[in-house]
Amino acid sequence: MQIDLLTDHPNYIDTLAPWLLAYWRPFLPEDTLEMRIDKLVRHCNRDTMPLALVAHDGDHVFGTAALRTCDLPGYERLTPWLGGVFVGETFRGRGIGAKLCQAIEAITRTRFHLEEIYLFTLDKTQWYSNLGWSAYLSCEWEGQPGTIMKKSLTPP
Ligand SMILES: CC(C)(COP(=O)(O)OP(=O)(O)OC[C@H]1O[C@@H](n2cnc3c(N)ncnc32)[C@H](O)[C@@H]1OP(=O)(O)O)[C@@H](O)C(=O)NCCC(=O)NCCS
Repeated sequence: MQIDLLTDHPNYIDTLAPWLLAYWRPFLPEDTLEMRIDKLVRHCNRDTMPLALVAHDGDHVFGTAALRTCDLPGYERLTPWLGGVFVGETFRGRGIGAKLCQAIEAITRTRFHLEEIYLFTLDKTQWYSNLGWSAYLSCEWEGQPGTIMKKSLTPP
């Protein structure tokens, strides 16, 4: 498995967009496939945010994760954010999600020289805690209670 920038593999957008649309549609019923494709296209950057990574084997994409300046309206004072973490259902439980998160953290530190990173989750607080993230603030998104989490990227 390799982890690369989405901008170097834009052909995977056709697979990722329907996955993301189906997963988030219960919360964002107005979303369309075109909107999901547009959003992924906007993440096709190398040295600026937003950027997305893909986990893949050269033929198939397994998952994605993004680095964004802000991922939750009202919290623009916090930056940057890990977001858009998604692994295809049949590829879960193999450490791909964890590796995508670690790759975003590495880019944040080495490419953007930032020492902390945030995320927002509705229901994966325990999963991120296991990856070294800490709950930072309670929040709300689309009427749902969520948690903002934070991770320090300073080398110990
Ligand atoms: C969350 C997600 C990215 C994890 O991807 P993954 O590739 O399966 O992750 P990993 O293989 O690195 O980790 C899987 C481990 O976490 C555990 N896990 C999964 N969901 C969990 C949760 N909600 N709480 C705690 N542990 C969880 C699994 O049981 C597994 O444990 P094991 O390694 O002991 O078997 C994936 O389930 C997914 O895409 N979910 C839908 C989208 C989503 O929720 N994204 C996060 C939005 S904030």
